Amino acid sequence: MRRLDQLLANLGYCSRREARAWIQAGRVTVRGRATDDFGAKADPADVRVDGEPLDHPAGLLLLVHKPVGLVCSHDEREGPNVYSLLPPRWRARNPQVTSIGRLDKDTSGLLLLTDQSALVHRLTSPKHKVPKVYRATVNADLTPALVTLFAGGTLQLKNEKAPCAPAELKIISPREAELTLTEGRYHQVRRMLASQGAEVMALHRARFGPLELGDLAPGQWRELPLDTFPP
Ligand code: URA
Repeated sequence: MRRLDQLLANLGYCSRREARAWIQAGRVTVRGRATDDFGAKADPADVRVDGEPLDHPAGLLLLVHKPVGLVCSHDEREGPNVYSLLPPRWRARNPQVTSIGRLDKDTSGLLLLTDQSALVHRLTSPKHKVPKVYRATVNADLTPALVTLFAGGTLQLKNEKAPCAPAELKIISPREAELTLTEGRYHQVRRMLASQGAEVMALHRARFGPLELGDLAPGQWRELPLDTFPP
């Protein structure tokens, strides 16, 4: 049960003050009845605004095809962000819709967004070892020795306390590879390859755990069920 004015504000409909005005104007019903008591508590499933059920009252989990050029930060000073792809109401939610891990501005591919903070913590924790598959194009020829090195779990990156966890490198062509990581350190793919003299020219995340982009075009997103990752 949630307070009506708070519920509307938290789901991004309007400010709390505006919600009170909407409620007093009779735009909000609970089980079919208009109420002017904005402090009344209701089950979100019973609430309608202008006759419509509430917009995802239980939460959001979205699979986005992040295009190159957008950042995952909410800070507008860092430039256009992935949240600009979403409907304004979802951008105004509290808790905020945020990314599960981040992709660099210059990286494209599969990104998850959610307002479920527990899910963010769970899926970004190194303990859970969710495999993420990246496709990288580099500026130097890749050698089988790299496959062994990355698989060994001994690669030590600058300014990191622990070596990188074992990672699977599949060489697709001399300058193209697929790298599967179970961690998400800052710029990890770029740093791992750069440490071996191969600068990443293009980077794309193709998979996150069991999820793939399918035919989703860059800039598009689709909803996922909230129980996509059972505890
Ligand atoms: N590793 C990187 O270097 N960049 C990303 O965006 C993701 C993983």
